[in-house]
Amino acid sequence: MSPRLVPAGSDPARRRDRPLTITVDGEPLTGIAGQTLAGVLLAADRAAWRRAPSGAPRGVFCGIGVCFDCLVTVNDERDVRACRRRARDGDAVTTQSRATDDGRQAR
Ligand code: FES
Repeated sequence: MSPRLVPAGSDPARRRDRPLTITVDGEPLTGIAGQTLAGVLLAADRAAWRRAPSGAPRGVFCGIGVCFDCLVTVNDERDVRACRRRARDGDAVTTQSRATDDGRQAR
């Protein structure tokens, strides 16, 4: 378990977690209801999930829906901000990239 996710049993707020599972590029990841997609990814120790046109890794930058660095495709809907979308059980997330294999910008 990641240090970013406090286990419910040791949470002083005594929250009750409802687990969920999403897939990211086919890999199952578990989270809890209420987490954003970015929260599920970060809790799984994935800090970057797309590439900028230069090939540089991108993930959460602002965390508030402003920078669009965290874009993913969710259930065939492109350009979803992972920091703003709450994860739903069964979501199929695929990563996006604007970089080509050699790091040049895709057209
Ligand atoms: S991290 Fe900036 S829009 Fe999602």
